[in-house]
Amino acid sequence: MTEPQQAANAGVPDSVAAWEERYAGSDPIWSGNPNEALVAAVSGLTPGRVLDVGCGEGADVIWLAEHGWEATGIDLSQTAVDRATEAAAAKGVTASFEVADVSTWDPSGSESDAGELRRGGYDLVIGCFLHTRLPDTREELVGRVSEHVAPNGRLLLISHAEMPPWAENHDEELGHGLGHHHEPVTPNGDFALLIGGSPVRWEIEFAELRTREVEGPDGQPAELDDSVLLAHRITD
Ligand SMILES: C[S@@+](CC[C@H](N)C(=O)[O-])C[C@H]1O[C@@H](n2cnc3c(N)ncnc32)[C@H](O)[C@@H]1O
Repeated sequence: MTEPQQAANAGVPDSVAAWEERYAGSDPIWSGNPNEALVAAVSGLTPGRVLDVGCGEGADVIWLAEHGWEATGIDLSQTAVDRATEAAAAKGVTASFEVADVSTWDPSGSESDAGELRRGGYDLVIGCFLHTRLPDTREELVGRVSEHVAPNGRLLLISHAEMPPWAENHDEELGHGLGHHHEPVTPNGDFALLIGGSPVRWEIEFAELRTREVEGPDGQPAELDDSVLLAHRITD
């Protein structure tokens, strides 16, 4: 974390430690299945290089690699990355995973890419449910994630349009202080943040709210809206 970010985050929980503690303190957290909105959004695209920021236990990266993408996932948590690496190996899938914070990550220094990549080297960059305090604001987050998209590439952001009704209490009960931002995310809001902070041109490929049926930690059924933005970086 850079010094300004340390200052900005003073007084809030340390998200790296909190995420690591959450993964290390439990069995796998996620289902192991790819996000449905991701499958729907990506299925029509021509495979290339893809980066999944905040890949968690790797289900989306593995699905992408199985569907022809040269896939890399980064995540703050060593345990999550270890699980993702093991899951890919168990399925015989080739994919790269790295422990990294997108606030500071420089792909050209990445061992897995042997220095070939630099910022702006991915045909598709995704961030699924990347609600985080690293970096401190969503505007910075959209900026840090989007700078890895190549000219003519795409950015896919899938986010909670509303936090699950149980999320706040559940976080408090678990005491893991994951630093969730609870402000609503909208696809058009994310697009506004994207174009406001980007030196390159973007257009919306689609921006929609997608409703999903879910089950809470105590088995309670609910419907949740996800914000889905697919943006295309226009070639200069
Ligand atoms: C809610 S989980 C989503 C995991 C996965 N994308 C999914 O949809 O199942 C958010 C993930 O983002 C990671 N994360 C949060 N901030 C990050 C950052 N600045 N850089 C990289 N990963 C981050 C967390 O460690 C966590 O695994």
